[in-house]
Amino acid sequence: MSPEIRAFMFDLDGVITDTAEFHYQSWKRLSEEVGIPFTRDDNEMLRGVSRRESLNRILKGRPIDEATAQEWMDRKQGYYLGFLETIKPEDALPGVRDLLNEAQGMGIKLAVASASRNARPVLEKLELISMFDAIGDGYSVVHTKPAPDLFLWTAGRLDVTPLQAIVFEDAEAGIDAALKGGFWTVGLGTADVSRAHVRLPNLDGVRVADVLAKVIAPTGA
Ligand code: BG6
Ligand code: MG
Repeated sequence: MSPEIRAFMFDLDGVITDTAEFHYQSWKRLSEEVGIPFTRDDNEMLRGVSRRESLNRILKGRPIDEATAQEWMDRKQGYYLGFLETIKPEDALPGVRDLLNEAQGMGIKLAVASASRNARPVLEKLELISMFDAIGDGYSVVHTKPAPDLFLWTAGRLDVTPLQAIVFEDAEAGIDAALKGGFWTVGLGTADVSRAHVRLPNLDGVRVADVLAKVIAPTGA
C-alpha cells in the first residue's frame, strides 16, 4: 500500500536557505574574542543542533558558568542578527520556491521545522513565511533535533501523522530526529544524511512527483 502523503516539512538552514556561513562567521567572531579555537570543520558539527548545543560542541568540554554561557550566546546572536538583515528573497536556495508552489497547488500542506530561534525572521526576509501552514522553531519544544519532538510538534500543528509527511533535511541530527519520529525522509547536501530514505544533492529542479516516486518506490510500502 502506498502511503498517503499529505505534508512536506522542511528544515530551514541548509534546505530553504544557506545560513551556515552566517552562523559560522558569528561563532567565529565570538570564539576569537573569548580565545577558543573554532574552524570551518568544527562548524559542520553545529548543523541542525540548537544554539545551546552548538556552544557545548564549540567548548569541547571546557567548563564555563551559566551566566557566561548566556552572555556568549547573546553575543553570537547579536552578530547573527547583523547578517540576518542582509537576507533577501533571492537567497532562497534554487528550486525551493518552485517546489513549494507546486506542492501547495496540489493541496500538500507545508511546514518548517527548524531548531533555530531565528526561523520566523529568516522566513520573513525570504518573503516565504506566508507559504507555510505551520512553523516549528527553537521556541516550540524543549528538546530539538536529534530528538523527534520538533517534527512531531509540527506534524501535530498540520494535523498529519508522521507517515503522511516527508521531511527534507540537510543535517544528520535532523535525519535522526525525523526517523525517530517515524517520518519519511529526504536527505540533502553533503553532510552525513545516509540514513535518509532518499538522498538528493539539492532541490534544484526537483518536482513533487519525483519526490513522491522516490520516497515510496524504494521501500515497496
Ligand atoms: C539550525 C542550524 O537550523 O539552527 C544550527 O542548522 C543552529 O547551525 C541552530 O545552531 C540554532 O540557531 P539559532 O538561530 O537559534 O541560534
Ligand atoms: Mg539544516
